[in-house]
Amino acid sequence: MKVIAIANQKGGCAKTTTAVNLAAALAASDLRVLLIDLDPQCNASQWLGISPGTLGAFNALTTKDEISALVASSSVIGVSVMPASRELAYLEKALAGELAIESRLKRRLATLDDAQWDYVLIDTPPTLGLLTLNALTAAQELLVPVTTQVMTLSGVAQLMQTFEEVRDCLNPTLNLLGLVPSRVDLRTRNAQDILAALIERFGDKVFKAMIHESVRLAESPSFQQSILQYKPNSGSAGDYRALALELITRTN
Ligand SMILES: Nc1ncnc2c1ncn2[C@@H]1O[C@H](COP(=O)(O)OP(=O)(O)OP(=O)(O)O)[C@@H](O)[C@H]1O
Ligand SMILES: [Mg+2]
Repeated sequence: MKVIAIANQKGGCAKTTTAVNLAAALAASDLRVLLIDLDPQCNASQWLGISPGTLGAFNALTTKDEISALVASSSVIGVSVMPASRELAYLEKALAGELAIESRLKRRLATLDDAQWDYVLIDTPPTLGLLTLNALTAAQELLVPVTTQVMTLSGVAQLMQTFEEVRDCLNPTLNLLGLVPSRVDLRTRNAQDILAALIERFGDKVFKAMIHESVRLAESPSFQQSILQYKPNSGSAGDYRALALELITRTN
């Protein structure tokens, strides 16, 4: 079981789009995937067709409920989900006075049946607060989607600082799996420059697979389908299949 946190405190850099479609592409390769939605915005849960109020991540973090009871099946074939809820925004308050609250998710995931899942993907909110820290502490791997529409290096530098702090204090073996260039439009000089800057700074950590800008991809949440269901022959479906294959290679 590989646990992968998908994080970047920059809002709108395609964390959720990556989490949902990567999960679908891994599942299409016959891998068993659990997506944990740690974002109080609940975007991934809604995309996956979960009705509001379904028990999920908040209960996992705040109770001792059997974790398998907090996992639901989703509208994406082969993908199970531990849904988010608005209450996640108040997690800090709910855990006031408790110890080791950053490693809460890690301890809960230790009770999961290791043989039941191949990949656990964690979608995180656009902050470096307690929810993201729980994801980084529970994960073996960190995957960072980066938008190539606006210069993102300073934001990524801030994330790398948090990554180092988490390795120092909470999760020494956390590995930077890589950066996924997202919303790439290679017709623009801007995207080419940002891509070049990312490769200069992070070298091989930048995935060869990249996700191109696509209207189809932006539409697919409205249909509660992954891009592999919504437009299986689209370039975006191909992008996510390629990302899944590269990720499988990099994690084995
Ligand atoms: N490759 C793409 N082409 C076109 N639109 C995209 C692409 N990837 C993401 N988007 C759109 O960009 C917006 C932000 O994407 P997404 O919600 O995945 O980002 P996020 O990082 O999860 O955001 P947040 O930080 O709010 O959680 C969405 O409207 C989404 O549809
Ligand atoms: Mg999101």
